[in-house]
Amino acid sequence: MATHLKDMELNSILSSIKEDLRLFDQKLKENLDSDSALISKVASHLVNRKGKRLRPAMVFLSHGGCSSSEANSASNPQVMNVALAIEFIHTATLLHDDVIDQSKVRRGQVSVNHKWNNLVSVLMGDFLLAKSLRLIVETKSPSLLSTISRATENLSIGEMNEVQESHNFDLDEQTYLRIISEKTASLFTASCESGAVAAGATETVRGSLKEYGQNLGMAFQITDDLLDWVGESKKTGKGLGNDLKEGKITLPLIHTLRECGARPREEILKLLENDFNRKDFDDILSRIKGNGGVQYAREKACAFGDKALSYLSQLGDSEYKKALQDLVGFVIERER
Ligand code: FPP
Ligand code: MG
Repeated sequence: MATHLKDMELNSILSSIKEDLRLFDQKLKENLDSDSALISKVASHLVNRKGKRLRPAMVFLSHGGCSSSEANSASNPQVMNVALAIEFIHTATLLHDDVIDQSKVRRGQVSVNHKWNNLVSVLMGDFLLAKSLRLIVETKSPSLLSTISRATENLSIGEMNEVQESHNFDLDEQTYLRIISEKTASLFTASCESGAVAAGATETVRGSLKEYGQNLGMAFQITDDLLDWVGESKKTGKGLGNDLKEGKITLPLIHTLRECGARPREEILKLLENDFNRKDFDDILSRIKGNGGVQYAREKACAFGDKALSYLSQLGDSEYKKALQDLVGFVIERER
């Protein structure tokens, strides 16, 4: 596949940790090596199509941004273990999420649940979760263990709450924001906080990076949900309109249902309550656009992005800080 412009942008944003990410990819493959033929097959399917590696990048950049050492972050075994563990936890959640959502595509290729079956996808997720536990225990840091296990617990709670709220067309913005904070921002927060912990940062710097991660995670998920409405399937690597099909109500629609007035609200609800087709999706989308739902979600993502940026003032100037700043723009403007 040709490298997309936004990918080139991401590569250039992450150029200061190019070597860390190369080592990371190497270690990732080594850690996925297994005696089980099926695990090896699924693992090679997973590494065949790389994700954006945003979470490991955040670990390396946060570590680099508050470390006094000149050495590569990835040469610190604690930092490498954390980056791998967080990527494994993230991949495990996607393997489980694709079963929950009955998705057929992930990262532009057939999903594991679709290529094999639900059982294989769940068990591969369990395997990755177990691997991540081992990697974190090896760091011998109760603080890292506590940070990452808390995030894993939160994202499970977030997913559970999302399942509970599915098809709730009265879902309010505050509840939506709480769910995305739990299911997505929690791991972004842990990635940045872990990098700071491994660098032995002060409480103030650790707290600031934690807040940066939290707000970046919010901006990321709002944008992710927006792309489900207005993205291009070819670029996002997943189906369009999936959220709505699963009864997942996200910010553009929450805003529209709240602002459009009683009559149009009834009309939209009628479309939602029936098995809607492509034409209904387009109809709902044009109502969302007409009511400023797309613009509203974009502005919200930008506001979280600005808040994330404000927390970086605690860091001294460095190429890592610059990359953390540029990541905010990427997360909001990305097309995949
Ligand atoms: C993707 O969001 C899913 C998550 C961020 C969280 C998933 C969490 C679980 C399945 C529960 C816990 C699992 C483990 C292994 C601890 P999305 O559905 O909005 O994104 P998508 O559009 O990419 O599918
Ligand atoms: Mg999903």
